[in-house]
Amino acid sequence: MSAAGGERKAYDRAYFDRWYRSPRHRVRSPAEVARLVAFVLATADHLLGRPARTVLDVGAGEGNWQPVLRRLRPAIAYTGVDRSEYAVRRFGKRRHLLLGDATALDALPLRGEYDLVIASGVLNYLTRPELRAALGQLAARAGGMLYLELFTAADDLKGDTRFAARASADWLRRELRRAGLVGGGLHCYVRREEQWRLAEMERTV
Ligand SMILES: C[S@@+](CC[C@H](N)C(=O)[O-])C[C@H]1O[C@@H](n2cnc3c(N)ncnc32)[C@H](O)[C@@H]1O
Repeated sequence: MSAAGGERKAYDRAYFDRWYRSPRHRVRSPAEVARLVAFVLATADHLLGRPARTVLDVGAGEGNWQPVLRRLRPAIAYTGVDRSEYAVRRFGKRRHLLLGDATALDALPLRGEYDLVIASGVLNYLTRPELRAALGQLAARAGGMLYLELFTAADDLKGDTRFAARASADWLRRELRRAGLVGGGLHCYVRREEQWRLAEMERTV
């Protein structure tokens, strides 16, 4: 990944202390994370027409969604993937995180499909070729809903905004369509074969 300036970002302990634990810098409070996770899980259940049972969280970081999902659904099978050696070393066992890359999920021992595929706070950090590859890999693992956070320069963001240049909405829509994804709004997507799960007026991309 290239941050502004072309350096590879370090997702080390200091990074997570700053953006996740420091009340001054963190992007979401624990209450905001809890609300977001509850929204995503309930929306996946709604689209599936049953409780989501399997979750793949790509770019999971320290796996901070895992305990929240577990509280909401104790039997949920959660797998996180992240390329931060720090995060996987520290939280991998406890939160079921695998060391790996969003662009190469095929290299990991994963299920064929998951009821819910998450990429929260990660896709904007990828270069365009990486993002294109990651969208294909994420779509291939989706057996229900995908929650994919993607932002453009028009969005006012707080937190670590040292992105590779943000792509335009047109480019992102083209890439999402190329990956075979159909949007339902609020960063939620389904695979094109599953678009019957969304009413025509719900569809965005
Ligand atoms: C801002 S954190 C987001 C963590 C978590 N998903 C969340 O919502 O809080 C970005 C994470 O993406 C991971 N990451 C960046 N590029 C990645 C890639 N190509 N494959 C897998 N993980 C990646 C980083 O290691 C980091 O842990």
